Amino acid sequence: MIDIHTHILHGIDDGPSQAEQSVKLLKLQKSMGVDKVILTPHFYSEHSTIDMFVLNCKSAFNNLMLNIEGDQAGEVIPDLLLGAEVLYNPSLVSFEDIDKLAIFGTDYILIELPYTKQFEYSIIDSLDRMMCNYNLTPIIAHIDRYPYIGKNLSIVNELIDIGCMIQVNADSVINPQMRDFIWALMDESLIDFVASDCHNLADRKPNVPDALKIVSEEYSKDYISHLDKVAARTFG
Ligand SMILES: [Fe+2]
Repeated sequence: MIDIHTHILHGIDDGPSQAEQSVKLLKLQKSMGVDKVILTPHFYSEHSTIDMFVLNCKSAFNNLMLNIEGDQAGEVIPDLLLGAEVLYNPSLVSFEDIDKLAIFGTDYILIELPYTKQFEYSIIDSLDRMMCNYNLTPIIAHIDRYPYIGKNLSIVNELIDIGCMIQVNADSVINPQMRDFIWALMDESLIDFVASDCHNLADRKPNVPDALKIVSEEYSKDYISHLDKVAARTFG
């Protein structure tokens, strides 16, 4: 099992502040059956250059690895991949080094859409250009969190039509109030990944297996193995 969206890397964003907390989160992930975790700290282009962000992430990652070694936790944590959750803005496609924000060793980039009331359709063109110019495949982070999606699945279909992949948060699968929306997406096979977007051990904790259990009760085990296959094909 792979968790492709997490805020476990310490000291970068609103995830843990200390490496010890990151190690605890990783141990919990492994104990729940998660074999691989992608570390996706927030990247906001108005707060940092890409180079500075990447430098900070690599430094935190190296520090985390030292802590894992010191804790002799290598066997009890999942494999790790460094990435980012990149907040969309219109100037993003003008950054010629945007590929540095892709998930390490891949051409996939996790994109957080803006939280505006209305969807800005120029985003579709912009993401399309990102794919053509930089050969990157956007994975749209937590499609369940944007106000303009609601029951309007046509936006989701347009994103998929240009080649985007779609991620939902495990929290929304677990939340009964979101269930109809999630099932509507799954009925149409619009979901590629269920991820935790976890930040801590309290109110935003790792929970992918809990969400997948609910999915398997509604659909068949085949659906879970389909999600596993997509994740393995993309990041395995
Ligand atoms: Fe996130």
